Amino acid sequence: MTIGFTLNGEARAITCPPETPLVTLLRDNMAMTATKEACSIGRCGACLVLIDGKTANACLTMAFQLEGATVITTEGLDADPLAATIRKALAAENAFQCGYCAPGFVMALVALLKENPSPSEDDIRKGLEGNICRCTGYHSIIRGALSAARMVQETLK
Ligand code: FES
Ligand code: FES
Repeated sequence: MTIGFTLNGEARAITCPPETPLVTLLRDNMAMTATKEACSIGRCGACLVLIDGKTANACLTMAFQLEGATVITTEGLDADPLAATIRKALAAENAFQCGYCAPGFVMALVALLKENPSPSEDDIRKGLEGNICRCTGYHSIIRGALSAARMVQETLK
């Protein structure tokens, strides 16, 4: 089938089997490899994207579900000042080791901070519940997320 959707602000049409996972479409058919695939069963958050403004696991989203949707991937966050702040804060805390999980964490934090620019640590921990990191003990990621939230609050003053 041919599916039409908006990807990072551009209208796209792609022909593929309807049950093709979005993560496969992005990585194998559209050369957009910033979205990572790890568990492939919706447990780790490595493949997070925004669909119509909400986080979604690209490994569980099938092509037929995309008709008319607006999809933002990690590449699409490059011009987003909120994502830039989050990336800067995470880097300052050396939040990641291998970095494979990083795009998913940034995507989750973008969604969280857009909805709630003043989250508590509990809110942040809840917002990141769907993301798994296989390298760190999470402390550095949480520190980076709290720092990002503080930086966002500064910009709102
Ligand atoms: S690869 Fe999609 S949730 Fe893990
Ligand atoms: S830094 Fe390696 S999986 Fe998170």
